[in-house]
Amino acid sequence: MSVSAPLDPETLARAADLLRSGALVAFPTETVYGLGANALDDHAIARLYAAKGRPTFNPLIIHVATPAHAFALAEVTPAARTLADAFWPGALTLILRRRADCAVSALASAGLETLALRVPAHEAARALIAQAGVPIAAPSANPSGKISATRAHHVAEAFGEEVALVLDGGASRLGLESTIVDATGTKARLLRPGAVALEALQGVIDVETAPPSLAQDDGAMASANTAAPVSSPGQLASHYAPRATLQLDAQHVAPGEALLAFGAPLATDGPVLNLSAQRDLVEAAAHLFAHLHALDALSPAAIAVMPIPSTGLGFAINDRLRRAAAPRPD
Ligand code: TXA
Ligand code: MG
Repeated sequence: MSVSAPLDPETLARAADLLRSGALVAFPTETVYGLGANALDDHAIARLYAAKGRPTFNPLIIHVATPAHAFALAEVTPAARTLADAFWPGALTLILRRRADCAVSALASAGLETLALRVPAHEAARALIAQAGVPIAAPSANPSGKISATRAHHVAEAFGEEVALVLDGGASRLGLESTIVDATGTKARLLRPGAVALEALQGVIDVETAPPSLAQDDGAMASANTAAPVSSPGQLASHYAPRATLQLDAQHVAPGEALLAFGAPLATDGPVLNLSAQRDLVEAAAHLFAHLHALDALSPAAIAVMPIPSTGLGFAINDRLRRAAAPRPD
């Protein structure tokens, strides 16, 4: 594996060639790093699942360069048009029905009749996808069950030779995965809270929410308007999992614990990282995974997490923290 800066034309051309030929290339997006593979190539997708250690029945987000490319693969609905106009390119993933002639690997969408589509805003990501000339399937670039990568070195540390190249775009600007909305029906439905706040969605369209509860997460969640449930790793209670135990809504810090602070930190002699001293939820989201990684690397007895309001991006942050705190099989 090599790690390179993404924007010089030679590196971009090499990365696009690698993707087209079926290799795995990790790349920055404004949300988190993605582990990319040619979405038209079943073998590349299989290698991607293998590298992730992700069960093969879990579908991937397909990244395209423009909304027109997205709507060439899947059936556009009025809700999808409205949401795409407002949030693409950006941190929104739309679930839409595959077109009959859609050439995306069935493995990439786990045999579903629907497809998860996103037009990322990150300049290098869009240039890479455009130059590859194929849709790119890309889950977050972390091994299954581990927290998402928001730095190139997170990716480089987690994977070996199975990833051909990591494009280094620095720290992810948003640091939280995309918001996923099912737009197959007449009413848009929130499936995963993420970097586009619910309030922002509601500013342009009426969105149905079934707030993710851990009870619901651990089984499967109803797939886009089909009777069959789909198991969504992003929805599994234990998906965002540091090694250390998390104590949520901490009011004090026990000896041996690390503190993930928000606002003025609780008193402690142990290590402290602050999501946002100013209690800014956008700043907190951008720091969330990097701070969890950094504290987890210290192997503390536990990570105490201060309370975070559930407004705006706080909803998605608390959702990720609850998953990270959930009991999990080893
Ligand atoms: O910000 C992001 O969304 C990042 C960047 C790289 O784009 N990607 C990401 O992918 O978070 P991943 O694979 O870690 O999460 C994708 C989620 C999973 O929970 C998956 O089950 C769900 O999208 N998903 C994919 N296709 C679906 C479909 N057809 N119906 C319902 N859920 C779907
Ligand atoms: Mg993920």
